[in-house]
Amino acid sequence: MTDSIDLRVNGQVRHLPLDPATPLLQVLRNDLCLNGPKYGCGLGQCGACSVLVEGRVARSCVISLGAVAGRDVVTLEGLGASGRLDPVQTAFIECQAAQCGYCLNGMIMTVRGLLNHCAQPSPDQIVGALKYNLCRCGTHVEILEAATLAAE
Ligand code: FES
Repeated sequence: MTDSIDLRVNGQVRHLPLDPATPLLQVLRNDLCLNGPKYGCGLGQCGACSVLVEGRVARSCVISLGAVAGRDVVTLEGLGASGRLDPVQTAFIECQAAQCGYCLNGMIMTVRGLLNHCAQPSPDQIVGALKYNLCRCGTHVEILEAATLAAE
């Protein structure tokens, strides 16, 4: 039996006739064409799929659609929706923190989630927030620089 879920994504309420057990990442990418969250491991371990739920970072590959019904979900597409880049995005560009870029959306969402709740994080807090976001290119130095710049 298919249920129906109201999902609020990037400020818009979407009425979705989907099984509540469907992974949020699958819904975002396949049903809503929001490709900011990436599929990496599918196991909650790499951070590529990171989104914000009620302002806090969450791994959309291991959250069900039903778990976020009625809650505020923001993807990378929802940052800078006012037509201006989010300061985190600006910092990542300024520090040239991308190589292949696959992990970057999740990194940006993780830093945004950190800054939402801690405006001036310490270096340890920044490292702690990002330590489970994996970058196979090894650009962690630039990514940490960007996160630090975004917090200034
Ligand atoms: Fe979700 Fe890796 S794809 S944490």
